[in-house]
Amino acid sequence: MLTHTRSDFPDDFLFGAATSSYQIEGHAQGGAGQTHWDDFAATPGNVIGAANGDIACDHLNRWPEDLDLLRDGNFDVYRFSTSWARVIPDGTGAVNAEGLDFYDKLVDGLLERGLKPAVTLYHWELPSPLADAGGWRNREIADHFARFTEVVMSRIGDRVWSAAPINEPWCVGFMSHFLGNHAPGLRDIRATARAMHHVCLAHGRSIEVMRGLGVKNLGAVCNFEYATPADSSPEAHKAATLYDGYYNRFFIGAFMNRRYPDDVLEGLGPHMPKNWQDDMDLIGQPLDWMGLNYYTRKIISPSGGPWPSHEAVEGSLPKTQLGWEIFPEGLHSFLKRVHDGYTRGLPLYVTENGMAWNDTLSGGEVKDAKRVAYIDAHISQVKRAVDEGIPVKGYFTWSLLDNYEWNEGYAPRFGIVHVDYSTQARTPKASYLALQEALRR
Ligand code: NOJ
Repeated sequence: MLTHTRSDFPDDFLFGAATSSYQIEGHAQGGAGQTHWDDFAATPGNVIGAANGDIACDHLNRWPEDLDLLRDGNFDVYRFSTSWARVIPDGTGAVNAEGLDFYDKLVDGLLERGLKPAVTLYHWELPSPLADAGGWRNREIADHFARFTEVVMSRIGDRVWSAAPINEPWCVGFMSHFLGNHAPGLRDIRATARAMHHVCLAHGRSIEVMRGLGVKNLGAVCNFEYATPADSSPEAHKAATLYDGYYNRFFIGAFMNRRYPDDVLEGLGPHMPKNWQDDMDLIGQPLDWMGLNYYTRKIISPSGGPWPSHEAVEGSLPKTQLGWEIFPEGLHSFLKRVHDGYTRGLPLYVTENGMAWNDTLSGGEVKDAKRVAYIDAHISQVKRAVDEGIPVKGYFTWSLLDNYEWNEGYAPRFGIVHVDYSTQARTPKASYLALQEALRR
């Protein structure tokens, strides 16, 4: 049982579940082109078990069953993504009709079931030929992304409920080019600064294209991680503030206020592409909503070494399967911060929230009590924000299905529906049943 039910929220508040293309579809099927995630996973040491998205949840064939689960779970909206390499296999050339048809069918399938389609254009699987050409480091990616946007939205843009260009720009930029644990696996500050800026530029170009096509309800999906100083020293405080800067303030600052934070530019400034300032108006075009993905917090401690000269240390709160601390208050804090400091009245959506656990199926049931408690605690923080007058308009759980958790492979289970990867059988977990009950109309 969840503490709050649908009736505790305003009538227009939406509940949804989220997935992404590469994590569920089965990328080896349907004529999709090779992506940098296929290449990254094929390189020893990058992904646990060298797992990739070839089969994943076979959603490409099982989508009607998956959409039925959404409808039967009493959800209002489904957040999914479109695979660039499925639609345009080499990233820039010919369109794969079968790929585009798939998303067309998916959108109609959602509408037939009374579900709103919330599409994200890019959720991380870059076509390999574009990666060969420098990927997000190359400014031209923004033009290619604009074309991909046009191809997809000319087909489904008339029927989607909302659209966002890029999932979690921080992961595409910083995590993938500085920390190196996501494709393309670089650890290079110059690549990072360029990728971060070009992700913003591609966002701006994509929004421009969608406005031109008359696509409605356009937003962005940023991820946020609460940064806590490891101790009360000014050094630890400074370290946590910088972490907060490049993680939580960089992208939303660009999208909403047309500027990057000064403290982050102290480190990244020398590596930024020439004349980046000229792009800020395009990047900061008006949006209709802002999406927040929120999971955890980090404890930050100063360290030696070059910028950003800090490290994350172990915290004391209960943790998920991935060792992520469970800190629901952080979600409320970000909803308030984003509203007060950036979006000032724009509708906010929690576009992802959830936890991994090593769930087991026994006697046809998955008793994921920890996930029920996690979802309950986070929905309660959303309710707190709504009661304070912050315009939060929806909450999406990550994820509908257990799926490919990137460099962590298939062991972490984030789904409210269990997937048996040997049979592809879907089994609703206790968390699905709790949401179904709470969302009953
Ligand atoms: C954020 C990402 O958008 C999604 O792809 C990932 O699986 C979840 N967080 C969990 O890590």
